[in-house]
Amino acid sequence: MDPLQAESRILDLTRQLNEHNYKYYVLDAPSTSDANYDALLRELQELETNFPDLARPDSPTQRVGSTPLSKFESLTHSLPMLSLANAMDTQELIDFDTRVRKDLEQDLIEYVAEPKLDGLGVELVYVDGIFTAGSTRGDGYTGENITQNLKTLKSLPLSLNNQSRPVPQYLEVRGEVFLAHKDFEALNQSQLAAEKPLFANPRNAAAGSLRQLDSRITATRNLKINIYASGRIDDYQVVSHMDFIQSLKDWGFPVNDRFQLCHGIDEVIQFHQDLETDRETLSYDIDGTVTKINSLAYQDQLGIRSRSPRWAIAGKFKARLEITKIEEIVASVGRTGAITPVAKLVPIHLGGVMVASASLHNQDEIDLKDLRKGDTVIVQRAGDVIPQIVGLTSDNKRDADSKAYLIPDQCPECGGHVVRLEGEAKHYCQNISCPAQIKRRIEHFVSKRCLDIDGFGTKLVSQLVDTELITSIADIYTLTKDQLADLERMAEKSADNILAAIKQSKSVDLWRLIHGLGIRNVGEQLSKVLANKYGSLAGLAEAKIEGLEITDEVGPIVARGVVEFFKEEDNRGLIAQLVATGLNPKTAVKDTSDDKFSGLSFVFTGKLELYNRDTAREVVESLGGSTANSISKKTTYLVAGPGAGSKLEKAAKLGVKVLTENEFQEIVEK
Ligand code: IVH
Repeated sequence: MDPLQAESRILDLTRQLNEHNYKYYVLDAPSTSDANYDALLRELQELETNFPDLARPDSPTQRVGSTPLSKFESLTHSLPMLSLANAMDTQELIDFDTRVRKDLEQDLIEYVAEPKLDGLGVELVYVDGIFTAGSTRGDGYTGENITQNLKTLKSLPLSLNNQSRPVPQYLEVRGEVFLAHKDFEALNQSQLAAEKPLFANPRNAAAGSLRQLDSRITATRNLKINIYASGRIDDYQVVSHMDFIQSLKDWGFPVNDRFQLCHGIDEVIQFHQDLETDRETLSYDIDGTVTKINSLAYQDQLGIRSRSPRWAIAGKFKARLEITKIEEIVASVGRTGAITPVAKLVPIHLGGVMVASASLHNQDEIDLKDLRKGDTVIVQRAGDVIPQIVGLTSDNKRDADSKAYLIPDQCPECGGHVVRLEGEAKHYCQNISCPAQIKRRIEHFVSKRCLDIDGFGTKLVSQLVDTELITSIADIYTLTKDQLADLERMAEKSADNILAAIKQSKSVDLWRLIHGLGIRNVGEQLSKVLANKYGSLAGLAEAKIEGLEITDEVGPIVARGVVEFFKEEDNRGLIAQLVATGLNPKTAVKDTSDDKFSGLSFVFTGKLELYNRDTAREVVESLGGSTANSISKKTTYLVAGPGAGSKLEKAAKLGVKVLTENEFQEIVEK
């Protein structure tokens, strides 16, 4: 073959291969067989070996990588690569829109909303439609020249298509390089097999892959790229971001498929919320949305701040994990005398609320996670409800004098003995007249989820117990107006109101009274189950373990707890007193108003001890959730008791969160 023939064949093969590549990786619509593609590629490689001077700058043979570099050269961006201001919640998106409308003196703004891809920002330079240079963001002004590495990205066009729209002679575009979940997992598998360190998340893995001096390694990583912004472009006229996106598509760039034109901020907010819901189902990581003003004239009019444009904003998703510091660990005394260690945290925003403390449950939990005052920890919200400390951060540092935390052996409230009995996870204060316990019992009894006595706050409980006007919950019903009015800072009117509220509480639903008694492990949901089954307090008081268990209503621990409670002479006396004061609860009607589990799916495995399997399901369903027998991608939680088997592995594989039965109870009763 003579050089002239070779040149024309090389051009032909390059075009064909780039076209097949585009159809396969950008359009997701393969246009040839693998065998044919490989044959064409081999032919091209041979021609390039025989005629090295004729190899084209957009040759697909470069996608496998080339000789390693000793270091990356730096490359200065013609226009700085800016960052984005953040909107932490819906209100901040509204504020952004208000400001924009005011500055532009417009009533309604057209926006383009897009996913915020969680990868690495890069810039690509095309001269005469050929990819000539690519760089990392760096400090925004100067990045690293990673051209060789970027050429290995299969969806990155090495030359642009000018058939439907002319390609500007000089063109810079910006986009995000990222790794899909499945490629991230495959990469970690091979790291594991090669005994190399694992990557913490897809973003880190993408960064590590893109910054390889040996581009042949980058080529094996299956990195993806999406283009979403422009850099400097000479002689190019479009009027909107939507038009620009259309240009990108026409030229052959990969563009995310969830760009959306929004008329006004309400549509942006809807897009943001929909995407947050869909987040789990996407095949790659995103950490929010980006909203840009569609009109380029308006963009120019608003201009930029020092480091970010005024015409765009990043809407953050609620964090599921946060990092903070333990300021202190304190022991709190509950109504059963149980001592619960609580971590006081440097307050942080988590899933939309401020979190300032987290229960550490018991001594074993603290020992297991090795948590101490001053530690830096990862916090998450289980079921997006209760904050939990996952553990120490990997770079946690301690002072030399840091000491392990031990639950005190004297009650922090009354000085009574604190003991941990054989087989119990918790420590208990042994003093039955510990004022903290009495206060907590009464606070619980009068609370919203129990007798719901309006105006009966923590302060009043404290005053009444401290002045010994009440020593048990039955005393609430014998309080007189004079006694109340004598209390410090108690107005006559308030005393009247409280007495009226107490009177009203005499006819609450039965489940509220059962819940109010504070029987161990019997929370709101189980109280409803018991109220429905036994119909009266007297009926429940006579329940037998067999009755409770045989009818498959509750688990063995709860059954024993109920029977023990009513066996106790003091408790029977208390109930007689309550009845004597005229307490006459209504038999329960099924409460279906609560749907806090709506959209959540639970699977149970192993031996359950608080709930019977059927009751657990009933409870989930009564809260609007669903249950299933086997784990799938749709499962939100696996509740695992002792003896759980293969379901645990499956949960780990699918990333399904596992709860202990106690944690399950916590989110049920919260
Ligand atoms: S536009 C001036 N669009 O977020 C606006 N950025 O915090 C320039 N990012 O450095 C960026 N997805 O790496 C834009 N759809 C998207 C994005 C996006 C992810 C990254 C990008 C940028 C950072 C800004």
